[in-house]
Amino acid sequence: MNIVEKYKKYVNISVVDKVQPVVIERANGAIITDIEGKNYIDCFSGIAVTNAGHCNEKVLEAAKAQMEKFVHCCSYVYYSQPTADLAEKLAQITPGRLQKTFFANSGAEAVEGALRLAKQFTGKTEFIALQASFHGRSYATLSVTGNNARKRRGGPYMVGCTFLPAPYCYRCFFELEYPKCQLRCARALEDIIRFNTYDNVAAVIAEPILGEGGIITPPDDYFVEIDRILKRHGILLLIDEVQTGFCRTGKMFGIEHYSVEPDIIAMAKGIANGFPLSGFIAREEIADSFKPGDHLSTFGGNPVSCAASLANIEFMLENHLADQALEKGEFLKKELAELAKRYKLIGEIRGKGLMIGIELVRDSQKTPANTEGNKIRDICLQLGLLPGLGGIYGNVLRIQPPIVISKEQLGELT
Ligand SMILES: Cc1ncc(COP(=O)(O)O)c(C=O)c1O
Repeated sequence: MNIVEKYKKYVNISVVDKVQPVVIERANGAIITDIEGKNYIDCFSGIAVTNAGHCNEKVLEAAKAQMEKFVHCCSYVYYSQPTADLAEKLAQITPGRLQKTFFANSGAEAVEGALRLAKQFTGKTEFIALQASFHGRSYATLSVTGNNARKRRGGPYMVGCTFLPAPYCYRCFFELEYPKCQLRCARALEDIIRFNTYDNVAAVIAEPILGEGGIITPPDDYFVEIDRILKRHGILLLIDEVQTGFCRTGKMFGIEHYSVEPDIIAMAKGIANGFPLSGFIAREEIADSFKPGDHLSTFGGNPVSCAASLANIEFMLENHLADQALEKGEFLKKELAELAKRYKLIGEIRGKGLMIGIELVRDSQKTPANTEGNKIRDICLQLGLLPGLGGIYGNVLRIQPPIVISKEQLGELT
């Protein structure tokens, strides 16, 4: 039985339409090589994970060195140096007064824990999330996910979750235009609090850019308006940086594009360049509202993953990876804008840094071109390019390559 046959028989892949027909042998930088020796330019980074490049040497060295010492101890039962060092580093590189991290393993686990912490600190139980958002596949995270394609057949969900129209300017829920709209979608929060909640809201949870939703990029003043309303009501701002974190958008964290100070940040994906790790960081007084027995994770803060993460962050800082993402992203967007002049199929190009979405539409009514998106993805595959495809209508090509990608490799995309 070959690898594909074994997958069909033994791996539960019924959760996806199809696994991309690439059997990976190895990967380095932005290049993935299949078992037949064919090279592909990776434009998706295992869903925005390998930001510092596949098999980044510095990250691998740090992980190997830690593996020689010990692999696991449970970082909440005993002390481990890499866990302590990484927590200190995260306090330094996250915005504002965020200080104490709880480590977990996946994005969903980080968001789930962050929601719990927000409840614990505020003593309140309701949440407001964005329509078109995605926060994970666990019960609480699906409850705050604003996309029925992800929630189908999983309900009933957690009570006390309500949704705010997404800042999706290309398909404005209010059929208005920015900036004339004066941020109608953000201002709607005031009404949502008044009419959809019983004034018991712990937090608003939001992604700085809605990745799975289709790289939906809020206007520059969006979060300032949201934050102004939250301050008035004493509601926490919980930012989900699982996909936008670690230089992806041209800043270490996506929310740094907006002049606000989050109360809690959840992070995962790019944190350890492929080693499983996640966490949520909060101000000290918020973090300390957890009491003994309130939370734990057996593998969370694994020493090997933490050592890898620390090296990953050092690599990012030494190589100005955030600036690289900005510069390369601008370059690519310019090239794509030229392409858009020739192809009506390209409805909008959006995003920040190397988190770029190309929304494909069939006509001037903006009918989502999802089958065309799938065809383009297949053609890209033949050409040796591996973009992602997503969005709430399945019509957004996602360009999220390892940030170390060269300009020549990026040029291949257009
Ligand atoms: C913004 C956001 N939050 C949470 C998650 C869930 O992360 P994981 O798949 O690691 O549980 C994702 C995954 O795509 C995500 O994009």
